Amino acid sequence: MSAVDARFKATTIGHADHRFCSPLSAEKAARLIDLLELRPGARVLDIGCGKAALLLDILARYPDATGVGVDLNASFLDEGEADAQDRGLADRVALIDEDATLHLANDDGFAAALCLGASHALGDYAGLLATAFAVLDPGGLLLVGEGYWRQQPNRAYLAVLGADEEDMTDHAGNAERAIRAGFQVLYTATANADEWDEYEGLYCRAKLRWAAANPRDPDAAAIAADAQRWHDAYLRWGRQTLGFGYYLLRRP
Ligand SMILES: C[S@@+](CC[C@H](N)C(=O)[O-])C[C@H]1O[C@@H](n2cnc3c(N)ncnc32)[C@H](O)[C@@H]1O
Repeated sequence: MSAVDARFKATTIGHADHRFCSPLSAEKAARLIDLLELRPGARVLDIGCGKAALLLDILARYPDATGVGVDLNASFLDEGEADAQDRGLADRVALIDEDATLHLANDDGFAAALCLGASHALGDYAGLLATAFAVLDPGGLLLVGEGYWRQQPNRAYLAVLGADEEDMTDHAGNAERAIRAGFQVLYTATANADEWDEYEGLYCRAKLRWAAANPRDPDAAAIAADAQRWHDAYLRWGRQTLGFGYYLLRRP
């Protein structure tokens, strides 16, 4: 196991109990994976793969497929690697510790690409759409999980998120931007309240549990306070304001 990279300490601690580091249930993941209908031998890319749980589930579902996952968080990649070994999938997947932009300058020809909650790995949502279009084969599929506003965010909530209102659009706007980037929108879905509660609840719980177990760590108090502040903002504003959409897109 790699030592936790200081840049990713808080997020690694917060996602200790997640398989998917996104508001995604096992049932919705299985449905999205079925809808990919990958042909034999498909090569699948996961941009900002985290623990690569979705990529590995795809390889388990499509036994001839191979996968490439790219992420900067070595702790997440280690978990993905161990999972791949346990599931007998390690010979069909490469999990690469590299910046996604750098990696994709030298890799293309994918039948499908995934990017869940990680468009910032390629700058922003527009950057993701442009890069994915370039690295997909004609007819290739892109499955994006992307945030959107369910309603106008208020200033206090934006301050907690460290975001600007202009950083995101609404659900229809995400789909429209994909069309403008040259994709067809095949199918859309959204994270429901249970998926959000599970995602945010596990995140808060893991941070508070870690802080209680590591009281002498110099970051313990800040991580605990931040977890409680974040969860309060989720309950107060986030549940009504922040959405997460799933967009199955096709490069014509
Ligand atoms: C919210 S997590 C989502 C992880 C995964 N897609 C999932 O849904 O389980 C975002 C991921 O993007 C990764 N990331 C951020 N910037 C990156 C970059 N420039 N290149 C590669 N990965 C990056 C982070 O390390 C993190 O694992």
